[in-house]
Amino acid sequence: MSASTRPSVIVLAAGAGTRMKSEKPKVLHAIGGRSMLAHAIRAARGVDPEQVAVVVRHQRDRVVEHALATDADILIADQDEIPGTGRAVQAGLEALEAAGVTEGTVLVTSGDTPLMTGEALRRLAEDHTSSGNKVTVLTAVVEDASGYGRVVRGEGGEVLAIVEHKDATEQQRAIREFNGGVYAFDIAALRDALAKVTTDNAQGEMYLTDVLGLTREAGGRVAASVVEDERQVEGANDRVQLASLGKEMNRRTVEAAMRGGATVVDPATTWIDDTVTIGQDVTILPNTQLQGTTTIADGATVGPDTTLTNVEVGEGAQVIRTHGSDAVLGAGASVGPFAYLRPGTRLGARGKIGTFVETKNAEIGEGSKVPHLSYVGDATIGRESNIGAASVFVNYDGVNKHRTTIGDHVRMGSDNMYVAPVTVGDGAYSGAGTVIRKDVPAGALALTVASQRNLEGWVRDNRPGTAAAEAAAQADGAADAQSEAQN
Ligand code: UD1
Ligand code: CA
Repeated sequence: MSASTRPSVIVLAAGAGTRMKSEKPKVLHAIGGRSMLAHAIRAARGVDPEQVAVVVRHQRDRVVEHALATDADILIADQDEIPGTGRAVQAGLEALEAAGVTEGTVLVTSGDTPLMTGEALRRLAEDHTSSGNKVTVLTAVVEDASGYGRVVRGEGGEVLAIVEHKDATEQQRAIREFNGGVYAFDIAALRDALAKVTTDNAQGEMYLTDVLGLTREAGGRVAASVVEDERQVEGANDRVQLASLGKEMNRRTVEAAMRGGATVVDPATTWIDDTVTIGQDVTILPNTQLQGTTTIADGATVGPDTTLTNVEVGEGAQVIRTHGSDAVLGAGASVGPFAYLRPGTRLGARGKIGTFVETKNAEIGEGSKVPHLSYVGDATIGRESNIGAASVFVNYDGVNKHRTTIGDHVRMGSDNMYVAPVTVGDGAYSGAGTVIRKDVPAGALALTVASQRNLEGWVRDNRPGTAAAEAAAQADGAADAQSEAQN
């Protein structure tokens, strides 16, 4: 296929998006783990395009930075002060021309139509070229098309024009077929028609939609292609529509996971970004959110009540009631319930991060366990070691963070404090309540706690008349009676 037969794509993203009532540009609002603009760019890339141009103006620098971070190869087209989608497309055409694209097919999509897919765009481009159209617009039919441009058809069903809601007559507003804002154009015909578009309408804007009527008048074929899946062309102009599209995108992503062999117990409370990868025979329990670059390997169980962002869950691992980000969990590992995994957590195969445990920058080796009530920060723990309940890795001296290193096959007692920097050798033990300030050699038992003293009768003498003194006196009496009976 020669280069010139590949379509190019113009993504419109210059509008102010006032209906969002947001300091953030509309196209940067996100659903399903990507901004709406990133969804649009992804769909555009799906047609294997010659070039992709993103048209910007409102909060230009912020949108440009985001667009280039999403895809470094896009062209940036600056719209001038003349408003409207028609003007935006003119700017896009100029950017394409500067990159050597002067003829053939251009697809135009909106930065606020996030369910549009690369596949649907590819089909549009093919239909457009094979039928010899100058303009093909994607449309959908709904019960109430309020707010959208309406598709006005002639008696033979031919597309005559698109009329914006604000400019439409009562009769036109009753039309249920609306403009999806996604088009294929012949570049030369588009350029000619845009030269004739004015701002003479209810909004004082250059409407791209006027190109349809103008192309028809110039004798070019104009057609509408009705999408089967009308949500693909649904736009998000405000936050109510954004949430509705977010829910639908999630429904699709969760469905794809199930079709891929995952059990999702409650799709309605399971939220999966479309950037997440899920294996086979994975079980996802209710109220679970999987975000970012999270991957769940085959046979793993996640949830209930779990949020994972950029977490790699190994084969057959279990992650229960956990909040985690930027962590790697090995095959067969077990996490939670009530664990908090912070960035830099790496748990080896068969390892355990248990109940009420927080970890950060912590490498915990194969088969090693931190089962209960602990904080593990800035630590390296070897293989098959056990950290006793209620232990704290004291990593911060008030100014700097320090690291604790623990060897293999170590058995540490409960309620230990590891005052970093400190190292515990292979096979070492420690007693309960040990404060480890000095390195522990391999095979040693570390103890810091003074031996226990019992001051007999202390409560009787110092807390007379209290319930404790009463209970102690009764216990003494019972013990006396018992020893008398035995004698
Ligand atoms: C537009 C269509 C309408 C269609 C609807 C589909 C026009 C005139 N109207 O209306 O027929 O039913 O989309 O969703 O085209 N933009 C720019 N520059 C501008 C104005 C807008 O780049 O000067 C961009 C916006 O950022 C947005 C897209 O174009 O991504 C659509 O703009 P928007 O204001 O949302 O148009 P609608 O009123 O939804
Ligand atoms: Ca819109």
